[in-house]
Amino acid sequence: ERITLSVIKADIGGYVGHSSVHPRLLETAERCLAASKLLIDYRVTHVGDDINLIMTHKYGVDCPEIHHLAWNVFLQCTEVARELKLYGAGQDLLSDAFSGNVKGMGPGVAEMEFEERKSEPVIVFAADKTEPGAWNFPLYKMFADPFNTIGLVIDPKMHQGFRFEVYDLIKNERVEFSLPEEMYDLLVFIGAPGRYCIKAVYSKSTGEIAAVSSTQRLNLMAGRYVGKDDPVCIVRCQSGLPAVGEALEPFANPHLVAGWMRGSHIGPLMPVGLNQATPTRFDGPPRVVAMGFQLSGGRLVGPQDLFADVAFDKARQTANEIANYLRSLGPFEPHRLPLEDMEYTTMPEVMTKLKGRFVKIDRTERKKIAAELGAK
Ligand code: 13P
Ligand code: 13P
Ligand code: MG
Ligand code: MG
Ligand code: MG
Ligand code: MG
Repeated sequence: ERITLSVIKADIGGYVGHSSVHPRLLETAERCLAASKLLIDYRVTHVGDDINLIMTHKYGVDCPEIHHLAWNVFLQCTEVARELKLYGAGQDLLSDAFSGNVKGMGPGVAEMEFEERKSEPVIVFAADKTEPGAWNFPLYKMFADPFNTIGLVIDPKMHQGFRFEVYDLIKNERVEFSLPEEMYDLLVFIGAPGRYCIKAVYSKSTGEIAAVSSTQRLNLMAGRYVGKDDPVCIVRCQSGLPAVGEALEPFANPHLVAGWMRGSHIGPLMPVGLNQATPTRFDGPPRVVAMGFQLSGGRLVGPQDLFADVAFDKARQTANEIANYLRSLGPFEPHRLPLEDMEYTTMPEVMTKLKGRFVKIDRTERKKIAAELGAK
């Protein structure tokens, strides 16, 4: 039985600031999805200020009706967000008119279609205050690092390795790598997660899709690339794929991601339970939740709140320590992102204001300038 699992997310307005989603938005989304005849099952959850619509159906990926449904849910939520004057109401709905696919219109999408196995454990990861490249490190660990996923060594169905599909967000190109043979080549690219993002992972023994992320092409607007957003990712688990515990293990060592305050800082990605998914310290640190489901004829049995486990307490503590240290750097890189990666910048205005005060450096004049400035 072929099932499609679609996760479509958007920030429809923050409560308070960018920290969370107001319960009335979640209720509105619930009500809209409950009224739809298209879905087998659905769940509405959130991480920080981002609403996740987790939906199962039979219509395949990129289905206009499913995307339209999600778009309409977000429109309804926007009305409530406007009424409550939530922060940035409707911020992720970039276009007024829906054109058949929500990609490139603001919402993030991760979808996969597959034959439901005898038992089908899946994990939906969702993160806030970061960007799609945040999945590069954990997806690499899950599907390519034998010290993380011992199944790569001891499971005959994993031993051949996996194919990784990577997007170049700037040139809008895709490329595939076959691992383990091309591990070093892959790492050249995905080590730069601001530009090269893992879109999907496929099993080499079965050819089946194993993971997919909400990575999508960027749009060039006013000379800047925009469209990176708080990402989601679906990972299928067990029997020839990483065990649930192997899929979660990369998050025990919080890696550094871009995002956090004003989308312009580096911070540790903290794994949390659903009731701790409210980033407030300096609008962060960035959070990730993991929702486990067993699928049964497309029904979503779950979620199991996988990072609520006390075994991730230490990761949270480590993330807090890293956060403290990075915060102490204030507006200095590498806590603040490089100029070209910040979502906010005053550089052009400051440059205009100081125009004329930048003068060519002429070494022969050093003595004269020093004397002049010294005399001031
Ligand atoms: P159980 O023996 O609990 O089924 O676990 C098997 C397994 O593969 C755990 O990763
Ligand atoms: P979001 O991308 O989660 O809306 O956060 C933006 C921001 O500016 C946080 O400080
Ligand atoms: Mg927001
Ligand atoms: Mg967000
Ligand atoms: Mg956002
Ligand atoms: Mg963001």
